[in-house]
Amino acid sequence: MSTQEEALEQERPASDHFMDLSGITKSFYGRTVLKRVDFTLDAGEIAVLIGKSGSGKSTLLRIIAGLTKADDGDIDMMGERVVIGGEYQKTWKAARDQVGMIFQNYTLWPHLSVRQNLALAPKKVLGESDKVIVERAERALAEVGMAHHLNSRCGQLSGGERQRVAIARALMMRPRLLLCDEMTSALDPPVAAEVLGVITKLKEEEGIGCVLVTHDMAFAAKAADRVSYFEEGVIAEEGDPRRLLSEPETPGLRKFVDAVRF
Ligand SMILES: Nc1ncnc2c1ncn2[C@@H]1O[C@H](COP(=O)(O)OP(=O)(O)OP(=O)(O)O)[C@@H](O)[C@H]1O
Ligand SMILES: [Mg+2]
Repeated sequence: MSTQEEALEQERPASDHFMDLSGITKSFYGRTVLKRVDFTLDAGEIAVLIGKSGSGKSTLLRIIAGLTKADDGDIDMMGERVVIGGEYQKTWKAARDQVGMIFQNYTLWPHLSVRQNLALAPKKVLGESDKVIVERAERALAEVGMAHHLNSRCGQLSGGERQRVAIARALMMRPRLLLCDEMTSALDPPVAAEVLGVITKLKEEEGIGCVLVTHDMAFAAKAADRVSYFEEGVIAEEGDPRRLLSEPETPGLRKFVDAVRF
């Protein structure tokens, strides 16, 4: 982008959407894995990303979370331009604090208690007092149905319980948006459904939005406000889940839906 283009870019009013990604492009070793992807999310919406392995879903989440830098593209969050031409701006930090991320693999410390795991980030990043942290931990655990596990050791919890604690840990930072990358892939379907139910509850009760990568089409059909189908680095089809999953228009999505028939 030239200096002049950048100046024009700065003048463009920021988007009204909670989050607005435009022209997100990313290559690894000369291979483009995201090709000018546009994506918007309104406050409190659940968006589900689906698509074959390697189609770019995790890379997009990582870019939103600031873990991978895009080569090009802009991101607006909550009315602020936070990424311009792939570069994170000063405004990014405040936006980043509103975003929590939950992965497939439990990233909790197994030898620490639930309370200790939950306290780490608020203490280190926000410098919160122990009293505030315990109050917030109790509330976050209640939200995910784990109130009785404040003092349990994380290593002793079941897979589903750990993922609920992972959600509670993200809630400790009071996010307005959760990014979830295959967080239930390692769980049995009924346990996965319970964990995903927490996401719906957080949307309904707290207005927390979510961008979620999952192969769970039943969840997508039931809970998503919008589904985006990724194919080789582009969003090939996007829209209302019921329409998208019952009458896919692109041949790729038709094949994908048939393969994961639910
Ligand atoms: N750090 C990296 N270095 C090199 N290549 C990468 C890196 N991260 C991702 N890729 C490549 O980018 C492409 C998109 O990967 P990504 O992880 O976004 O796919 P995905 O849609 O999440 O797939 P899956 O469903 O298997 O998780 C893949 O071909 C992957 O190998
Ligand atoms: Mg992935």
